[in-house]
Amino acid sequence: MLKVGMVGMGGISRSHRNSWKQIPEAKVICVCDIRPEKADDAASDMNAKAYYDFDEMLAGEQFDILDICLPTYLHADFAVKALNRGINVLTEKPISLKKEDVKRVYEAAQRNHVRFMVAHVLRWWREYVFLKDAVDSGRYGKLLSGHMARLGNTPKWSWDNWMRDPERSGLVPFDLHIHDLDWIIYEFGKPAKIVSHRSGNSDQDYINVIYEYDGFFIACEAAWFDCDFKFTSNFRFQFEKAVIEYKDGVLKTYKKSGGVETLEAEANANENGINLPASNGYFNEIRYFTDCVLAGKDCEMLKPGELETVLDIIDVLNEGSKTIR
Ligand SMILES: NC(=O)c1ccc[n+]([C@@H]2O[C@H](COP(=O)([O-])OP(=O)(O)OC[C@H]3O[C@@H](n4cnc5c(N)ncnc54)[C@H](O)[C@@H]3O)[C@@H](O)[C@H]2O)c1
Repeated sequence: MLKVGMVGMGGISRSHRNSWKQIPEAKVICVCDIRPEKADDAASDMNAKAYYDFDEMLAGEQFDILDICLPTYLHADFAVKALNRGINVLTEKPISLKKEDVKRVYEAAQRNHVRFMVAHVLRWWREYVFLKDAVDSGRYGKLLSGHMARLGNTPKWSWDNWMRDPERSGLVPFDLHIHDLDWIIYEFGKPAKIVSHRSGNSDQDYINVIYEYDGFFIACEAAWFDCDFKFTSNFRFQFEKAVIEYKDGVLKTYKKSGGVETLEAEANANENGINLPASNGYFNEIRYFTDCVLAGKDCEMLKPGELETVLDIIDVLNEGSKTIR
């Protein structure tokens, strides 16, 4: 039985906790949050021990996996600390706001012969897996264009308002757009050209980017709107022989030959605890990471070079941005 420790028991930790409950080879034995009520609540949810200080948890417990659900700016330092103690680490996205951390974290994992992975959940999200297969198989002919969007309201709920602090969260490019960008780099590699526009600040932040490749392009949008805007993640990809659209949690394939096919709803989708359509993406990524740890294998689904490319591109988006107000 693998023993798991978790740190950062805020919003996203609920999806991770629900997933760990479904992994028979692992048991969450300890959880940590500097807000005692969050740690206590998660501890009773998981039948685990609560800690309010990470160093105390590291000193007081022996565990095989650390699952990091902390604010973004803390991911790399906490990961390295645990890796250096021989603990396998899964961290929420992004790995860091700084590219140099990719090398630092992976070197710590290698030095200590343990596994490290960033939880870029779209790589395991059913509709994005379907899309990848449609591109790779070529069953609808050549890809012509794509559109990906991730829009929501300005996050005012995060601990200490860290999300709206550019130094700690990186705002919309790191909070939202990085999901789609990571998937794009995973699937297509580096684009030939990037055209981006941005308007915003920590109250409202909107980014619009076109990634150009040989023969097709992908237009993306991501935003925090300062109003009661319901979160949406969607895409629409145009192939020679079909259009695949994912909208309101439903994926449809519109065929040139006629007819529309709808991907059946997932019978056993998790309650993911955040405002996203139900999917087993969180379970799938945690299952994959657990299998890598059990097999003593690197997490090859996610390569450090891809993470570096994503951080390089976000630098370009930030440099090329137009900030209003
Ligand atoms: N994959 C996804 O779909 C997804 C969705 C939401 C958030 N995220 C990522 O998850 C991370 C966390 O986001 P969130 O929305 O859960 O944030 P949050 O503010 O709700 O939770 C963060 C928690 O960390 C705790 N914390 C802060 N400093 C700490 C410390 N030093 N030691 C222990 N606990 C500490 C806070 O008290 C808080 O409970 C972010 O990096 C975000 O990018 C991913």
